[in-house]
Amino acid sequence: MRILIAICLTILFQAHLNARIIMQPYLQAVTTSSVFVLIECDSPDTVEVKFGTSKTYNQSAKTELIATTTASPVTYVHKVKLAGLTPATNYHYQAIQGKSASRDATFYTAVSAGMPFRMAWMADCRTGTAIFGKISALMLQANPMFAIYGGDLCINSEYKSWKKQFFIKDQLAFASCVPFFNSPGNHEGWKQNTKAFTENPVSASGTQDYYSFDYGDLHILSLNTEVPYKKGSPQYEFAASDLAATKQPWKIVIAHVPAYCRGGHGENKAMIAMTKAIFEPNKVDIVLTGHSHFYQHNLINGIHHLVTGSAGAPLSNPEKADYTLFQAKEYQYAVIDVSTNKLKLYIYNPANEILDSFQLEK
Ligand SMILES: [Fe+2]
Ligand SMILES: [Fe+2]
Repeated sequence: MRILIAICLTILFQAHLNARIIMQPYLQAVTTSSVFVLIECDSPDTVEVKFGTSKTYNQSAKTELIATTTASPVTYVHKVKLAGLTPATNYHYQAIQGKSASRDATFYTAVSAGMPFRMAWMADCRTGTAIFGKISALMLQANPMFAIYGGDLCINSEYKSWKKQFFIKDQLAFASCVPFFNSPGNHEGWKQNTKAFTENPVSASGTQDYYSFDYGDLHILSLNTEVPYKKGSPQYEFAASDLAATKQPWKIVIAHVPAYCRGGHGENKAMIAMTKAIFEPNKVDIVLTGHSHFYQHNLINGIHHLVTGSAGAPLSNPEKADYTLFQAKEYQYAVIDVSTNKLKLYIYNPANEILDSFQLEK
């Protein structure tokens, strides 16, 4: 009996030691004082993340939430919150589970109000992994503090699509250092793997489905066109109250589906209704979207509506509307520099040539 117990304990101990981190950890939901590190593992055993302002890591945090993916055998995405951080500060971190440890990576906490910063944007990478790898590397080179993504990150909601199309080497190198926020698209959907692989900020929405956050002098409202958003829906009501309440100098809305778009999937009536009823009266500056696979810069009633819909997905043909300032059938990503009274936006192609740029002042 004693021998049997000893064998069982040894097996359990070995299983614990054999628990493995199976993907480079990456960052989500950064604020001025916290960030989530997401670590995919083959076991639910607690993950420890050591962190600090140098590689000596004088602090540590443990698994706070675990989400399972649809992989077979199942994998576990551990969500570890690093809290008590200082704004605009560079931190090192390393995740440990059993004998498995991730490599050291660094990130910056969010800047406080009044501080300038740079962010990046891309949408619709999907199956174009060669282009997306290049764009991920260029975004890293641009040195943004964080990134916002406009969905269609992979062709469908399957685990293997996430792993083979979105979590490619260059994107993991980026996301391990630069936290990203996603507005889900119709391809990955708002399903089990999307929910497992992302962690959205806590906001007045009271849900992970859609959210808003402040970063420096910018307010970002991230909509989710995969859950109801027409007038009368909780999401529509949240968008209205959220944009009415913010006192931030700059307001950007991100969504997968554009209100205004000519060519590709075209215009969307419900998004146009939301634009007129909510975005325009609340003086939103820019609406960033994807879904249609080209670049189109549309200006309607003082709001710049950008369709920046391909960081890799097959290109389609834009058609010029009377509200279109510029368009191009090219792959692209954006770099946005924000200070209290100036916002500069640059659209680059994968050769890193500027396709379009504009500057807004307050
Ligand atoms: Fe798309
Ligand atoms: Fe789409």
